[in-house]
Amino acid sequence: MRRKRLGGQSPLGHAIEASPPIHGHGGSILIAMPFDPTNSHDVIVASHSGPLFGEVVVPGAKNSVLKLMAATLLADGTYRLTNVPVIDDVDIMADLLEALGLRITKIAAPRGEVGQHLEIVNSGAIRPVAPFELADRIRASVNVVGPLLGRFGEIDIALPGGDDFGGRPIDMHLRGLEAMGAVFDVTSDGIVGRCQRLRGADIEFDFPSVGATENMLMASVVAEGTTTLRNAAREPEIVDLCEMLKKMGCRIEGVGTSNLVIHGVLPSTLQSVTHCVVTDRVQAATYVAAVAMCGGSIRIERAVAEHMGMMLSRFTDMGISFQIDPAGIVATAPQRLSSIDVATLPYPGVATDYKPLVVAMLSIAQGVGIVTENLYPGRFRYVEELRKLGADISIDGHHAVVRGVDHLRGASVVAPDIRAGAALVVAGLAAQGMTEISDVFHIDRGYDDIVGRLAGLGASVTRIRPEN
Ligand code: EPU
Repeated sequence: MRRKRLGGQSPLGHAIEASPPIHGHGGSILIAMPFDPTNSHDVIVASHSGPLFGEVVVPGAKNSVLKLMAATLLADGTYRLTNVPVIDDVDIMADLLEALGLRITKIAAPRGEVGQHLEIVNSGAIRPVAPFELADRIRASVNVVGPLLGRFGEIDIALPGGDDFGGRPIDMHLRGLEAMGAVFDVTSDGIVGRCQRLRGADIEFDFPSVGATENMLMASVVAEGTTTLRNAAREPEIVDLCEMLKKMGCRIEGVGTSNLVIHGVLPSTLQSVTHCVVTDRVQAATYVAAVAMCGGSIRIERAVAEHMGMMLSRFTDMGISFQIDPAGIVATAPQRLSSIDVATLPYPGVATDYKPLVVAMLSIAQGVGIVTENLYPGRFRYVEELRKLGADISIDGHHAVVRGVDHLRGASVVAPDIRAGAALVVAGLAAQGMTEISDVFHIDRGYDDIVGRLAGLGASVTRIRPEN
């Protein structure tokens, strides 16, 4: 049963739309497509591939663009986001924001660019009630809570969905917003929150949570007074969000550090902007993993080495060599990878999102590597799938012990989540014979044409739609 719905007049005096906004609008280049799950039975078939060569261009980051899209709730106007990846999570977030009252148009990127552009129109007619079935599908849906409470004083939303790594609480989001004056009614079904204008507060996170930092940022930029966020996350995607917010007129100090000081302004003083999404460092690392496992040498255009510092350093320890310039990196594989021990940590540490790739690489490296997961204890579900390919991996608590084998062999495997799915595709290229990866809808949530990009480097990989 759905919980009580909000409506009428918001606590901050804004009129709340009685009916959902209309999706899409006319014009020749305008496409406002709802999320289409018809590809959910597709299968990726990866075959043993020789060395990879050539160039791959990496688009913008999922974990940035979804938050930039949420930030457009803060002020009226027409926004343009460029370098937006063509992925399902963007479609789902667009549907969610349209249901809240924004108008979103996807525009094919001009020649010479990758991805797409999003034009987002915020006319101020927002209904802060997020449809359950959309909010439930992605983790980033929780990122509308901060801007909606900050600007409209009201939110009604399902608990966020997303990849299943075990428990993914949002207590830090809610505690931070409560410290600023919000009141929540949380059930197993969702969250209803209300506030008068939020007040600045001094908040110290128990852990540098990416999502909680983003939510608090987007709430505090329009709060009354100054907010200090201590032990904040400082991932490149958070810096990207801060940069867009600053362009909009928000006052944020300490960008890129774990202490953010935000001086709140009135939403009416903010303006809409154009912003280019930061490059996806995890997609970039996926192509490093592919060349590392198959051999060869590739250029990864637009990869920002500075955002991948610790990971590139550990990849170097495995024997991969890099040439770095401002426009990208060239990654060259060794004869055989060497094993390393690696532990995931918040930025600037090795991100948990790289881990399935690292485990796949270690599975054919020389020696034994221990991978320690410090963020999500349940993020080892793909290990069973890698074992089907012949990998020798044992799990002990939050450690994976990976004993490198001479070669993997093809098998049918299931993608359990976005990053693990991509790691299985890459492993399939290194495995002898043919590997069939199903549940590729997980991969589609975060990867922009991984098959086309890998095939462009010479990999034997294709996508098929089984007949019923
Ligand atoms: N946590 C809490 N309470 C909170 C918030 C987080 O206990 O209120 C815990 C989580 O359970 C987890 C840890 O803190 O153990 C880190 O969670 P965080 O909030 O930093 O992660 P997130 O915002 O939910 C984002 C990315 C994830 C990525 C993590 C860590 C998005 C949409 N998701 O999640 O990306 O793994 O940060 O870097 O930005 C992916 O892209 O495949 C993905 C899973």
